[in-house]
Amino acid sequence: MSVPVLSSSASALAQAVEALRDGRLVAFPTETVYGLGADATNPQAVASIFTAKGRPSFNPLIAHVADLDMAERYARFDDRARDLAARHWPGPLTFVLPRREACLIADLATAGLSTIALRVPGHPVAASLLREFGGPIVAPSANRSGAVSPTRPAHVVESLGDRDELALILAAGRTEVGLESTVLDLSEATPLLLRPGAVTREQIEAVLGPIEVAAGTHENAPRSPGLLLKHYAPSATRVRLGALRAEPGEAWLGFGPDPFAGRQAITALNLSERGDLAEAAANLFAMLRTLDDAKHRAIAVAPIPDEGLGVAINDRLARAAHG
Ligand code: TXA
Ligand code: MG
Repeated sequence: MSVPVLSSSASALAQAVEALRDGRLVAFPTETVYGLGADATNPQAVASIFTAKGRPSFNPLIAHVADLDMAERYARFDDRARDLAARHWPGPLTFVLPRREACLIADLATAGLSTIALRVPGHPVAASLLREFGGPIVAPSANRSGAVSPTRPAHVVESLGDRDELALILAAGRTEVGLESTVLDLSEATPLLLRPGAVTREQIEAVLGPIEVAAGTHENAPRSPGLLLKHYAPSATRVRLGALRAEPGEAWLGFGPDPFAGRQAITALNLSERGDLAEAAANLFAMLRTLDDAKHRAIAVAPIPDEGLGVAINDRLARAAHG
């Protein structure tokens, strides 16, 4: 039997809250991607996230909270984190901070680390859910481990629709940002950008001054165990980056107004014909899913400018290509 997909209403929210209290999972929209949520303080509920996703359990989760006050119950904030939170919360920015001694979030959620990842999501449905639930909700992206993140309710159904752990999906159409949040580690003296996202390095440096950026390949003992290189990979075909045109047998994923580059492709899509990076980010995962088909020898992807949001897009593409 497939899981209920409910468009958000007061009664859908009430059902979601009840499911979370019962230790079950709820998929919900954030402004970045759909999350697979559990009561962060319930170890069994958290464990069922890993079962449902088929995710290696050493991978720590982001705790979603309603506001800064709630966040400060679980982590020790400093001025840097408060300044950034004042500017970017609610929003697609996650902080890794020292976990408080009295933090009630399940150890499994933080993979036994002395730090915790926190964010206040910007989506109104996520905000209502957190307010009504009244506590932290841990949520990775609502897909099977290793697949691209879901940006539409149908992606969640495809990936997890048959899982008993999942009580329901709160549906609110496609997500606006389309890429997972920026992850910034502020647990040590030097800020370290662990995962690029819609809040860019430039925006962070405007507040904090120079920061460090984690190396692009996270194969060797990364400070963030979840940032495995092959994290966002399509499963049925490979990805060829920086392509100037599609070769016969390939699929084409274009960027910008080039009507000819995809001419030889079996299937051709364009991330953004007008060359808009925000539009490209919002389309990226859905288009990768559509083109992820064994009939394509590869997905040839046009070059994406490596600036602003393009850095995050190229990061996800590099991971997809590594698969
Ligand atoms: O946009 C998002 O962030 C989405 C939505 C649902 O909020 N969530 C998401 O979660 O992408 P997930 O689990 O797919 O990615 C969380 C990332 C992982 O790379 C993980 O390693 C890192 O955050 N992370 C979590 N806790 C950490 C910690 N204590 N130290 C370092 N990295 C951590
Ligand atoms: Mg994920």
